[in-house]
Amino acid sequence: MNRTKIATAARWIRDAEHILVFCGSGLSAESGVPTFRGEDGLYQHSKLLKFAHIEALHETPDAALEWFQQVIDMLDELRPNAGHFALARICQSRPSTIITQNVDRLLEQAILQSPNESSAPPARVWHLHGSLYRAKCVDCAAPLKKMPEDLVTARCPRCAGRIRPDVVLFGEALPEDAYFQAQGVAHVADLVLLLGTSGIVNPAALLPGLARSHGAKLIEVNPNPTELSAIAHLTLRGPTGKILPAIEKLVH
Ligand code: OAD
Repeated sequence: MNRTKIATAARWIRDAEHILVFCGSGLSAESGVPTFRGEDGLYQHSKLLKFAHIEALHETPDAALEWFQQVIDMLDELRPNAGHFALARICQSRPSTIITQNVDRLLEQAILQSPNESSAPPARVWHLHGSLYRAKCVDCAAPLKKMPEDLVTARCPRCAGRIRPDVVLFGEALPEDAYFQAQGVAHVADLVLLLGTSGIVNPAALLPGLARSHGAKLIEVNPNPTELSAIAHLTLRGPTGKILPAIEKLVH
């Protein structure tokens, strides 16, 4: 680990007025969640390609929802890692907005378990690609107040339609309001943390460049070079589970 770079990252975090955290699946990798494009990434799993598609929800809803339920049940067994906890502590203590492409809730769990020593409300996580822990109606799109126990048997209380997880599927666009809000944060942030994302998927991956064009500094934490490395002012090569705790120790 490069101590000078860690110290620089900690100083930039201390001096920042508003941090935009931009996360990808690498942040959850050390908890056991596969990334999308790694060697054993999710894109190697044929069921993901088959069922995480809007057409599958309409054509084979039972099979698709059963698969989603299995994914949720698998995620329920996983726990936040040291990177989630360090990030939670960093964001609890200063103005920050966390924009994640991840559909798990590991970061929220870490935030809930981390003491909030400032008077600010707990850091909020915006799920740009949706969340497996929110549900809505396939037919009328009404959000459900509570996640159902079983997606296969659940029905919409308004129209009796099937219930799906509120995630962006293949064949669907990003919700416009979520991206619009994220652009607003990119305009005001003076520091961006790029954590565990390949930066390949647009429009999400356009946000760091937008923030940079408005004057923000960019720090990337990732074991590998990415599409965003060229625009980062500081790159820390290594897993977020090791690098973020090292930075966090020097921030306070
Ligand atoms: P990718 O699979 O494209 O990239 C994962 C990144 O995590 C890579 O850059 C890895 O080097 C890095 N990585 C792996 N292990 C890590 C670790 N321990 N610590 C830090 N980084 C690590 O996944 P995403 O960038 O999340 O979209 O993919 C973006 C979007 O592509 C996803 O949200 C999904 C997919 O299509 C939708 O579902 C709409």
